[in-house]
This record gives sequence, C-alpha cells and structure tokens, in this order.
Amino acid sequence: MTTDHQELGELARKHLWLHMAPQNGDTMTIIDKGDGCYVWDTEGNRYLDGLSGLFTVNAGHGRPEIAKAAGEQATDLGYFPIWGNAHPPAIKLAARLAKLAPPNLNRVFFTTGGSEAVDTAWKLARNYFKLVGQPQRTKIVSRQHSYHGTTFGALSITGIPAIRQPFEPLVPGALHAQAAYPYRCAFCDSACNLQCANDIERVIEAEGAETIAAVILEPVQNTGGSLVPPEGYFDRVRKICDDHGILLISDEVICAFGRVGSWFGAQRFGYEADLLTFAKGVTSGYAPLGGVLISDRVAKPFLDSDNTFFHGLTFGGHPVSCAVALANLDVMERENLPARVKSYESEFRAALEGLKDIPIVGDIRGIGYFYSIELVRDRVTRERLTEQECKEVLKGFVGPRLLELGLLCRADDRAEPVVVLAPPLVAGPEQFAEMASALRVALTEAAAKIG
Ligand SMILES: Cc1ncc(COP(=O)(O)O)c(C=O)c1O
Repeated sequence: MTTDHQELGELARKHLWLHMAPQNGDTMTIIDKGDGCYVWDTEGNRYLDGLSGLFTVNAGHGRPEIAKAAGEQATDLGYFPIWGNAHPPAIKLAARLAKLAPPNLNRVFFTTGGSEAVDTAWKLARNYFKLVGQPQRTKIVSRQHSYHGTTFGALSITGIPAIRQPFEPLVPGALHAQAAYPYRCAFCDSACNLQCANDIERVIEAEGAETIAAVILEPVQNTGGSLVPPEGYFDRVRKICDDHGILLISDEVICAFGRVGSWFGAQRFGYEADLLTFAKGVTSGYAPLGGVLISDRVAKPFLDSDNTFFHGLTFGGHPVSCAVALANLDVMERENLPARVKSYESEFRAALEGLKDIPIVGDIRGIGYFYSIELVRDRVTRERLTEQECKEVLKGFVGPRLLELGLLCRADDRAEPVVVLAPPLVAGPEQFAEMASALRVALTEAAAKIG
C-alpha cells in the first residue's frame, strides 16, 4: 500500500498538472475509494468528505446503481452527439429536468460542466437579443468575488481579481456589482434597504441599461462564504431586470439538486430565472455533465424561426453522463434528498453554532448543506484577520490541520477568510458532530496562534 502510494505520488509530481494549485507542493492526498460521506486515501486513512468532492457528490460516494447505469449505457450506446440528432438518455433527462425545474424553464442545452454552462447562458442571452431586435444588449452583470468558472466567458464574469489577472485582457462587457454580504453591511443590522440589490441597478444605469443583456448570480454565493442574500433581495433583483428589459440568469452549478434544500435554488428563494445553469450535482459527479435550463421566453425567437444557435460541444449531453444523471435523480427522488436537507439543516447549523465560543469564529452562515464559518481576529469587533494571518493561519494551518483530523473541507481566502462545509446530502447528525469536533480542535489551536 505504502509503495503504491509513494509511486503514485512520484508519478503525480512528474506528470499530473493539479488544478488551481501550485505545481511545486510536496504533499498531496491521493484518494482512491469512497462510500457514503467518506473517502479513503491510498494509505488507508479515512476522511469525512465535508465538501462533497467539490460541491458535487450530492447523493454520496459508492452508489452501485449509478455505476451500473453508466456501464449499461456504455454497452448500449457509448457515444452519439446531439448535434441535430438525439439519443434516449438526453431526451429523457431534458424532460425530467424540465419537470423538476420552475414551470417557465422547459428546455435544456447540455454541456459537460459548469463553465461551459455559464458561457452558453451568456451566448444564449446575446443571441436572444439579436433575434428580438436589440443587438446592442451584449453585456452582463455579476457580483464582486463571485466564481462562475474558468473558460474565457465564465472567467470574465467571475469577480475574483487574483484568478482573472493572469489572463487579462478578458472578454469585454462583464461588469461587477456589490455582493450581498449581510455580516459586514452597514445597513443590515439596523434597517436593510437592499442596498446590495440596488447596486446592481447602479451598475446597469451607469453602463447604459440598453447595452445589458443579463444579470447572473448564484442563489447563495460561494466565494466570500455561503453568502445568503437578505429578505426581499431576489424580488428586487427580478424587478430591476424587468424594469430594464434584462434577463436574469440563476447560476446553480452549486445550489441545484438539493444543496440548499430544494431541487433548484430559485425555488427555495422564490424567484423566476430566464436561464438557469447547472452541473456538479446533476450526476453527483459520477460522470461529467452540465447545462442550461431555458425559459419559454428565451426559447421563443429560436422556435418561431429557423434560426440556429451556433453553439455545440462534442461531449455535451453525453449518453453515459445523461444515463448517470437519470440514475442519480432516481436515488435523490427515492431518498427524498432535497427534503432531507431541509429537515436537517437546522441541526447542521446548530452543530456549527456550538463553535461560537471560539474567539476567532466570527459569523456562521448558510442554508441547507452549504455553510461557512468566517474567521476574525475578534468576534465582538469583527476585526478582520490580516493578510498574513489568512495565509499562515487559515491556509497554512487550519486547512492542513483539518485534513490531519480527517475532515476534507475548504479553507478559502479568495474573498473573506472562511471554512466552507458542504457535505453529501446523505449526511446526518453523526457527520455534523464529527465535523464540529474536528473544527473545534483546529479552530481552538488556530485561535491560540492568533492570540
Ligand atoms: C457557481 C459556479 N458556476 C460555475 C462553475 C464552474 O463549473 P465547472 O468547474 O464545472 O466548470 C462553478 C464551479 O465551482 C461554480 O461554483
């Protein structure tokens, strides 16, 4: 086992380019088995997967019926494109997603992942406005620090300076408004005036509303730490979009498929999207797939004419991935996972709130199985950690210490310094207690370091 592990480590260091990570790191966890909420590394150590891989393994690891569906589909038809033709898994999945989604979203464009879904949504919005006689509407508004992916379109929409800068200049026309961040909002503690939502309108008006095609936002913004907008936010954003004739894109690459306690985030928060992007949880990660759910409004000018949407991907709507997604949805429906999340979310929150006595635990926020703990120098004054403390304590200590304690999660300082937790939707009180106990050890030791 150890030799195997060492050899794999050597091969990885020589040949494997790790995503979003320095290439000169000398430690790496190599995971080779998963079951339910747990994964094992090649040395036999067990970890609680507190991030569902990457917000992805919603149904949990090691589901034989999903694996079986992949094998059977590969045997029947391993590949066929949906460029003008179709195959049963893509048709059945599109119909099933339309049934689960809000009533106005009835068509699906399949991609292989989330970035492509976001690019597709922006292109659809631009193409739609060309067809309805408003070709000047090309721009898109997202929120500061939001993550929407890494392909050029999605990266341009992404609002995280550090990951944009190495690739600039990016696609023109992507603008950024304030994020919804109640913990440090000057108004939220007294009287929320939805200033964060109004900032979207400020950006639209400053740029010229007639040039804006879409606003894109996550129901709960990941970067910054599970940012749940204040009451009334989505109604206000929807109204801003309607007042200015702009499309609203709900980027649900993380929030769909039960993560926030409903099939789609827009349902939990009660707003209507014109386009809705998804990926990750649609297959629980057993095969790559993403897509865009398209409203009747956006589909109409394409359906009323012989106009082609000149966009396609060889592997978009891959039959094996669609068969996997159907099997995954069977599991999620049978075990009622979105409802399970909703029924357990207050227990999950309570387990994390038990950590509030640790002096560096500032805010605990989130919804469903999507929570973050913001670390501060001082809970009472909400004084921020310094850049050095983020680097040394959050990234350099808390992350690795939690791994040592058997908890995989994310120590993230791309915006506010947070520990992000998003376990598989099959997690329950036993896993909440396990997460809280590892966090208590790591955060108490981190607090001592900050002093
Ligand atoms: C909200 C959101 N949009 C888009 C993406 C990009 O998805 P992918 O990594 O599948 O390209 C992500 C990835 O985490 C995401 O969280």
